[in-house]
Amino acid sequence: MAIDIPTLEERYINSCRKHCVLPNAAIISVLFKAEVKRSCNELCSLEISLDHLKDAEFPPLLDLCMELDASEVEAVDIRNESLHVLNGKYALSLMRAINQKLRVVDLQDVSFGKDFLRDLAQRGLTCQVLTLRSSHFRKLNMMGEFMRIHTLNLDFSTSLTSFQEDCFTCMPNLMCLSLCETRILNLWTTIAALSKLPSLIELRFQHWSCCNDVGPSSASSSGKLDHNTDSNRRNSFHHGRASSVNIGELTEQNSSTEEVLRNMFLLNNVVLNDDVQSRAEDSSDDSELDFSSPLQEHGSVERLSHIFSGGNRQINQKNEDSFDNLQDQNNVEPLAGPFTKYIGDNALKYISHHASPICFEKYYREYMIASLPHLRILDNLPIRKIDQERARITFSEYFEHLPYQRKHEENVVTVLQKREIRSSQNHMQSPGKKLSNLYGKSQCFYTRSLSAAKMGSSAWPFLRPLSVSGSDMGGESRSFRPRQFEYHPSNSSLMVFGTLDGEIVAVNHENGKIVSYIPSLGAMNSVLGLCWLKKYPSKLIAGSDNGSLKLYDIHHMRSMGTGICSGANSVSFDEFDQLTSVHVNSTDELFLASGYSRDVALYDISSGRRLQVFTDMHREHINVIKFANHSPSIFATSSFDQDVKMWDLRQKPISPCYSSSSSRGNVMVCFSPDDHYLLVSAVDNEVRQLLAVDGRLHLNFEIASTGSSQNYTRSYYMNGRDYIISGSCDEHVVRICCAQTGRRLRDISLEGGGRSRSSMFVQSLRGDPFREFNMSILAAHMRPRSKSEIIKVNMLASSDYAKVHFDGQQACSTNSMGG
Ligand SMILES: *[C@@H]1O[C@H](CO)[C@@H](O)[C@H](O)[C@H]1NC(C)=O
Ligand SMILES: *[C@@H]1O[C@H](CO)[C@@H](O)[C@H](O)[C@H]1NC(C)=O
Ligand SMILES: *[C@@H]1O[C@H](CO)[C@@H](O)[C@H](O)[C@H]1NC(C)=O
Ligand SMILES: *[C@@H]1O[C@H](CO)[C@@H](O)[C@H](O)[C@H]1NC(C)=O
Ligand SMILES: *[C@@H]1O[C@H](CO)[C@@H](O)[C@H](O)[C@H]1NC(C)=O
Ligand SMILES: *[C@@H]1O[C@H](CO)[C@@H](O)[C@H](O)[C@H]1NC(C)=O
Ligand SMILES: *[C@@H]1O[C@H](CO)[C@@H](O)[C@H](O)[C@H]1NC(C)=O
Repeated sequence: MAIDIPTLEERYINSCRKHCVLPNAAIISVLFKAEVKRSCNELCSLEISLDHLKDAEFPPLLDLCMELDASEVEAVDIRNESLHVLNGKYALSLMRAINQKLRVVDLQDVSFGKDFLRDLAQRGLTCQVLTLRSSHFRKLNMMGEFMRIHTLNLDFSTSLTSFQEDCFTCMPNLMCLSLCETRILNLWTTIAALSKLPSLIELRFQHWSCCNDVGPSSASSSGKLDHNTDSNRRNSFHHGRASSVNIGELTEQNSSTEEVLRNMFLLNNVVLNDDVQSRAEDSSDDSELDFSSPLQEHGSVERLSHIFSGGNRQINQKNEDSFDNLQDQNNVEPLAGPFTKYIGDNALKYISHHASPICFEKYYREYMIASLPHLRILDNLPIRKIDQERARITFSEYFEHLPYQRKHEENVVTVLQKREIRSSQNHMQSPGKKLSNLYGKSQCFYTRSLSAAKMGSSAWPFLRPLSVSGSDMGGESRSFRPRQFEYHPSNSSLMVFGTLDGEIVAVNHENGKIVSYIPSLGAMNSVLGLCWLKKYPSKLIAGSDNGSLKLYDIHHMRSMGTGICSGANSVSFDEFDQLTSVHVNSTDELFLASGYSRDVALYDISSGRRLQVFTDMHREHINVIKFANHSPSIFATSSFDQDVKMWDLRQKPISPCYSSSSSRGNVMVCFSPDDHYLLVSAVDNEVRQLLAVDGRLHLNFEIASTGSSQNYTRSYYMNGRDYIISGSCDEHVVRICCAQTGRRLRDISLEGGGRSRSSMFVQSLRGDPFREFNMSILAAHMRPRSKSEIIKVNMLASSDYAKVHFDGQQACSTNSMGG
């Protein structure tokens, strides 16, 4: 009987004859091997290499593959090679033809191209193991059928920054996921995506290996990844794709080693300047895939060497700090590189290979373990019960799962119902004065619960660039280059921004309509200082970096299009050289200006006169000056001399009420809306909250620093004084922390939404004074240099909604941005 069935080879050769193609020798040999295995009663599997397979050789192979389902072949593996000659479409057809017998697909997509990847992601594959090293995914969106996949490896996908929210819902059986050396950074979006994987037990964003100073590394039994000498290690980074990580082989851990590593992870709060990576520009027009540079590997080499040189100092210092805190560790040797750690007397060396930036987030490991309770192995180290315990503790100490310390996700409707019931009860039980108190309290309580319920665990806030259009411009939107902005203090739809080109634009930020446009007069100067008056809500003071200071009334400035605005309706004040900040006192009588000097000038608004110049208030220039919100004579200055000083105009400001020092130069200071606190931000994420009354430290937000000394951190309040938002101009992320506990609620990344977003950084930001969990971010682009835009963020909007609108807006906004 069996004799009558043609062998695989015979079938293949027949098919070749039919298609008039010469049989491929490599295929013949594979088929022959399979036959031999079968005859020896071994597992009959085919290992097909797509290399050197030409398009012409495809039809007979496809014929063969289509028959495999019904054949005695039990499994088919498709392997890589570096050079694909075969058309990507053909490669996919082959894999789909193999259908249920497809076991392993191990490819590098470099030459298969965009359509291959998109098709694969959208339609899925029947394989169990999928390895797509160095893939060009930017935002992972695998929506197709991947029902059988249990292992996915996307190591070295150096464009991969984020996930589509539902990108893993199609992989119910995925157990192992490896994402080493990607650009993934955001803990929240990552967890939100990974939480959709019910079977995930092994996850990897980096590969730890441990070894003694001599001898081969013990961590990887495959031996592929380990290089012990420094030069070899670097080599392996530079030729990232040459070394591979095999999931599943790294589960055996030696318990003593494990113990040491575990201690080490208590120290895992090292930070890397990931911006180095984001500077490697992308130029693809597609938002989910990145095929920008044919010299892609080159780029990654350069990036990594940047990381080596840039990260070193910082990480050394960080680790030393941390080691000091650890009592059972002593004798710390200096680090050989950013990813190397020495621990203990016996000079064991632990090296993290191919780390993704997320690994350098503070409490990364604890966050992952606490958020993924089913995970068994993280970064090739097993997770024990005690690790889970510790992770939970760390998580609750440093993170807020839901806003306002709500413990469980509540349904919006439930909260609304409870509020109804409560308020009607109040009505019935306690009429009179007491009622309003009670009612007021519960109102606030329910508002907060409602926020928490709306936000849920969604990690993707609604981001939308503010697109501005004027009726004088025929409804067309036009692009500006904003440099500074302020929400209006009493009109919730109004915002003003000043541009790098010296223009001032008052805009209804709800509909994008320009309310008033004041063109730049003469030279192009950046508007750096803006402040609305409170009692005269149509008036504002604007100062530009060339020193000009003017009071404008936006109701008398409708000049867009006609270009006739002469500034006749503005009042000019004496110049303040190199101005950076203006602020009006709470009664609109006075305003202060500061800039690149140690002086502060006091102006009288009604007379237009400069009343006084206070000299040498600091030892270096004063970046920002702020009046208190309610005490008209109290103001604070923040200076690059590292001090923040509180002053009172009633006493001659010769000596401050008090002074408080940061460890680096101060960039920003602001009062909480109720003047209880002072929020101080110094260079490189040093953010502290002081008691406004005497300058005592209330809270240090302990945001990890990046190691770059010239970068400017700005922080403001959001939701009254409940939360703070903080961003730095060398990072494309905004951090949101509870202002009472310092616990982190979310990070919002300005990335992953398309080409330009990955190279943005946070120039400035403000919480919306009228809308909870709404804010605006002034984002600037690395390249092209001068581009900037205001991005509105609503943390309470659902992400599906956000996705649709964001993508739509994106196209429209790039158009309007033009040159
Ligand atoms: C995969 O590609 C690499 C690099 O070209 C090669 O060394 C390796 O042998 C290939 N694997 C298979 C199974 O063909
Ligand atoms: C632990 O590791 C050491 C050296 O790496 C090895 O000699 C020893 O056999 C290992 N112990 C176990 C239990 O695997
Ligand atoms: C707020 O400003 C907008 C735009 O100028 C205006 O249409 C609206 O009437 C203002 N609302 C209030 C309450 O003043
Ligand atoms: C500053 O620029 C404004 C126009 O933006 C101009 O009117 C003014 O003369 C300039 N002042 C100086 C000192 O250059
Ligand atoms: C505004 O500040 C000045 C200077 O301290 C103060 O005299 C004035 O009282 C403030 N405005 C009002 C109305 O209090
Ligand atoms: C900090 O950001 C500024 C842009 O505001 C940039 O010019 C500068 O190079 C950055 N410094 C570092 C050390 O990254
Ligand atoms: C936040 O702003 C959006 C519009 O940008 C609005 O729809 C939403 O209701 C706001 N959220 C709150 C809590 O006001």
